[in-house]
Amino acid sequence: MLAECKSGKEASVSDTESVSSFDIFSELSAEEIEHQKKRKNDLHSKVLAKLTNSGLDMSVEASSIDKLKLSSYSALHDLASLQRLRYLTQKDQKQPTLKASEPAIYQSLFSEQECDEIVESVFKFVSLNVCDLGVSINQNRKFTKVVHAEEGWLVDRHTSFPTTDLPVSSLPGPTQKLISETIEKLLYPFISQRTGISASFFKPRDLFIVKYSESGQRELGLHSDGCLISFNVLLSSPADFCAGGTFFKSFNKVYHNSKGSALIHDSRLEHSGLAITSGTRLLLVGFLDTI
Ligand SMILES: [Fe+2]
Repeated sequence: MLAECKSGKEASVSDTESVSSFDIFSELSAEEIEHQKKRKNDLHSKVLAKLTNSGLDMSVEASSIDKLKLSSYSALHDLASLQRLRYLTQKDQKQPTLKASEPAIYQSLFSEQECDEIVESVFKFVSLNVCDLGVSINQNRKFTKVVHAEEGWLVDRHTSFPTTDLPVSSLPGPTQKLISETIEKLLYPFISQRTGISASFFKPRDLFIVKYSESGQRELGLHSDGCLISFNVLLSSPADFCAGGTFFKSFNKVYHNSKGSALIHDSRLEHSGLAITSGTRLLLVGFLDTI
């Protein structure tokens, strides 16, 4: 359904000034931050020394890691740790990474038709009644307790900044397959080029569909995510809602995705979901980490 947007009513960047900020690292003292930096550097040196002793060619590019035959599972994990630390500390980076630059956009990660398929699958799922939804998710052991739901959507999966959402793992198999295969095949290599971390080292910590709506949750306050890399894909058509967008405090800028495109950013960047003023805005959100 097309949303009727009224001019002058859309949320602007200035609207976010009153939004409270949440950053799990913001309460650290300068001394603690310094200590944390030292720990990361020490760990980097330790892992580097271990890998050097193992005889592995450390000059190898992240993109070629997948072709290497590493001797052990442990070496693989050590290499992932090293690449992650290099990204976090910005050591030996030949080009700016997502750690030191604005969010990146992967255009048309999903086709419009694929977005429609995902949305249809989501609404089919939430059309189950509230009680059935809680029980079915619980029986699948995806959660340890019966969840609360609002019109079939879940509202208590994220504690500090709750979203109205659904985990991708609760959707039908073909929808899960479409999402995971697209991310692995297209998005991970794209992120690899912008982090120096091999594509095969990424794993999703959480993948979920978020709903912003006129009658429900309209926005999400300023926060940072508790993972390494975050992304969101607009599944709705921009004509389905008014305003919205993702605001980034560091760049004082609002990003608007086109349908099917992914906005990818370092998880520590403070960002907010700006309020929609009408309609419904659906996003596929991913929190990524390394193995
Ligand atoms: Fe976020």
